[in-house]
Amino acid sequence: MSIQRVGIMTGGGDCPGLNAVIRAFVNVGKRTYGWEILGIEDAFNGLIDTDYKFPRGNRWLELEDVRGIIELGGTILGTSNRSDPFNYVVKENGVERTVDVSDVVMENYARLGLDALVSIGGDGSMSIAKKFIDKGMRVVGVPKTIDNDLGGTDQTFGFDTALNVATEAIDRIRDTAESHDRVMLVEVMGRDAGWIALHAGIAGGADAILIPEIPYALEPIAQMIEMRRARGTTYSIIVVAEGARPRGGESSVVEKKLGAMPRLMGAAGRVATGLETMVDADMRVTVLGHIQRGGAPTAFDRVLGTRFGEMAAELVAAEKFGCMASLRAGRIEAVPIEEAIARPKRVDPTGQLVTTARAVGVRFGDGVTRHSLVAPPKTE
Ligand code: F6P
Repeated sequence: MSIQRVGIMTGGGDCPGLNAVIRAFVNVGKRTYGWEILGIEDAFNGLIDTDYKFPRGNRWLELEDVRGIIELGGTILGTSNRSDPFNYVVKENGVERTVDVSDVVMENYARLGLDALVSIGGDGSMSIAKKFIDKGMRVVGVPKTIDNDLGGTDQTFGFDTALNVATEAIDRIRDTAESHDRVMLVEVMGRDAGWIALHAGIAGGADAILIPEIPYALEPIAQMIEMRRARGTTYSIIVVAEGARPRGGESSVVEKKLGAMPRLMGAAGRVATGLETMVDADMRVTVLGHIQRGGAPTAFDRVLGTRFGEMAAELVAAEKFGCMASLRAGRIEAVPIEEAIARPKRVDPTGQLVTTARAVGVRFGDGVTRHSLVAPPKTE
């Protein structure tokens, strides 16, 4: 069956680079293949109710619709992280419950005459895509998320921008930390993965980095602050991933909504509250939050988004459904969506990046220092 009409949607939390993917896909889809391309509004909301947000909602995308959008943050199609058709939240008499509206989506997909769907999203969107593939929908995936926690790809777009935003914030915080002799805690996003914290912490020269993959104790961090002060360095920078958790404890969940992932916040505040009882230092907490998700994508994310968008079009044209575009050792390849969702990508606590960070003096709150990693030099 030749492809004539393709839908494209962005799902989950937005991230810089989504528009680069849409732009590339529409350019290749139109210029090379002459497809009709339907932009679907707010992830599956636009396929659950095809009149959703009418008259703005779903719309046919032409080349002029994607002109001048590569540098824009957000997504021209809108997104949602609460529109899983298999667990769709409805409110009746003020009470929320979830229902399965996946058959409605299948009917609308057929009624709109779509031959394929491109789903740009993270692990949640890819898991939904897999369920629709099993129902007979022809789906191609594109991996996005600032968290960089999706399997099957070396990197997702959006991560590089978020990490650069966080690094710049740490640089700024260092200036004021030094002026005021303070301990500054910077909370970054990343959900259950410490990629943003680890990369931004290293790039920003943090003294300690707390990540979900290495549960922390407060004592080694307090000791590190005291040691720095004893050596005359009166400020410290601690980068805390929002999913960081104390040894034997849980991450800081502030809200659990039906049909949504638990909301994480307060990890850095919790560390500061604990440290305040152990160290006589002025402390301040900065939560970077959604600042990391907005703004113009970096050149890297624009290029990666463009490469993924082109690959998505080629996968649709070759009818390689059930596949996701992926970055592997610098090349764009196709991987089965199952592979992407089989195992989330986490920081390896014994991996090269953590080891490098330790080697330059970064603490992870587990009491391991560079000196406890290497044997002392032999004295003959
Ligand atoms: O997955 C991306 C992400 O930004 C996470 O880092 C963060 O925990 C979450 O989304 C925030 O989601 P929301 O926009 O729903 O607050």
